[in-house]
Amino acid sequence: MARSQLLSLLASLVLLLGWCPLPAWADFALPPLPYASEALEPVIDATTMSIHHDRHHGAYVANLNAQIAANPGLTELSLEALQGQIADFPVAVRNNGGGHWNHSQFWTVMGPVGQGGKPSTQLLKAINASFGSLESLQTEFNKTAAGHFGSGWAWLIRKPDGTLAITSTANQDNPLMNLEGIERGTPLLGLDVWEHAYYLKYQNRRPDYIAAWWDLVNWNEVNRRFAAV
Ligand SMILES: [Fe+2]
Repeated sequence: MARSQLLSLLASLVLLLGWCPLPAWADFALPPLPYASEALEPVIDATTMSIHHDRHHGAYVANLNAQIAANPGLTELSLEALQGQIADFPVAVRNNGGGHWNHSQFWTVMGPVGQGGKPSTQLLKAINASFGSLESLQTEFNKTAAGHFGSGWAWLIRKPDGTLAITSTANQDNPLMNLEGIERGTPLLGLDVWEHAYYLKYQNRRPDYIAAWWDLVNWNEVNRRFAAV
C-alpha cells in the first residue's frame, strides 16, 4: 500500500471513530503504571512488568468490559463495590473483576527500591498488636505466600474487629469478596503469586521473589490504606 493510501485510510479511521459514540463496554479502564516499567529493577524486571500490566491486567479489563452487555448492573457499581457483591455475578465477572481490582492495588503498593518509606506509627502499633513485630508479620506473610498452592494472592488485611491478619486467596479472588471460604477484611497489601508475576526472572523460585519483593513495598500507600479504613 502506498504511503498516501495508508494516510488516507488512517484519516478515515480517525473520522469514523470520531463520529461513533464510545461503546458502552468502555466503562472499566486500565490504569497506567504509576512508574516506568523498569522502575522496579532489579527486583522485578521491565519485561515482566510490561507484560504483566499491559497484557495480563489489560486482558482482565477487556474481559470485564465484555461482560457488561450480559450484566448491565455492572455499570452501576464502582470496581471496589463490585468486589463486595461478586457472589451475585457469573464467574467470568468474579475472575476478571477480581483481576482488575487486585492488579490495580498491586501497582500502587509497590515502588522503586528505597522510595517506599516505612510503616506509620499507627500502622506499626497495629502490626505489633497483631503479630508482635514487623519481622514476625513478614515471616508469616512469606510463609503464606510461598505456601499458597497454585495461582493466587497473599494479603495483609484489616479485619472488621480492627485486628490485622494474613490470608491468601485463589485465582483472582480477594478479601473484599462476599464468597464462602474467604477471610474477609480490608486489603492493606496484596502480593501477586501467579507465575506470570515472577517466572521470567525467578522461574520456580517463588520464595526468592517474595523475599526480594519486600524491598519494593510502598509503605506510604499501605499507611494511606490503613488510615482510610
Ligand atoms: Fe498478575
